[in-house]
Amino acid sequence: MISEELKIIPRNLKVNREGICNQMDFNSCQYLQYFSSQKEYNFQSFIDDINKLLELTCDDLARIRIATILTRRFLKNTPQVVDLCPPPDPEICVATKCLYKESNSKFRVNVFSWLPQNSNVHCHGSWSIVAFLGDATTGRELNYFWRREDDGSNPTQAVVKPVSKEILEAGDIIGFTSDAIHNIKSLPPKNINGYQSDKPTLMFNIFGEPNPAQQYLFNPFDHTCKNY
Ligand SMILES: [Fe+2]
Repeated sequence: MISEELKIIPRNLKVNREGICNQMDFNSCQYLQYFSSQKEYNFQSFIDDINKLLELTCDDLARIRIATILTRRFLKNTPQVVDLCPPPDPEICVATKCLYKESNSKFRVNVFSWLPQNSNVHCHGSWSIVAFLGDATTGRELNYFWRREDDGSNPTQAVVKPVSKEILEAGDIIGFTSDAIHNIKSLPPKNINGYQSDKPTLMFNIFGEPNPAQQYLFNPFDHTCKNY
């Protein structure tokens, strides 16, 4: 019997330009009928399905909803993906490994690991999915979600305000719309019965093709922004 502290309760979340993070709604899930829930679901099936999804719709919310279902299906069939996460580089505390990227592809897939540190406030400039791997003893992430308050007409100035925050951990999947803004503080694992592991935060990510003009880093203190 698994103790309460070791239980993983999977959550499917989404965040949008308003900085609101909430449960993804799968009721009347448009386009789902185009994707068979075959038992054998390998990486190539997953890649083929994401390509099909991108052909079916340009809507970010529709994409992240279906991509969440497909990602969960793939990870359930291939739990060993976690073993592909490289150990964090000891100098920069981060490591990434590309699993899929072709010159003409409209998305990329990677795995990522990092030890506790902070990120800038940023938006991805593309729809994206982040799935947290591992177990209850794996590192977590505190995400802050922001809203851009100005009209976006000035490419170097932006007023962003924090709206919500969420601790994300193994079992969670979160989908971002292109204009969702966040920053991250990666956290150490939970303390379970007096024991805290030193495992990094581990992730499986899908990033759509970014629009460079919409990929921003924000400085919430001096209200500047820049493309990255
Ligand atoms: Fe991000």
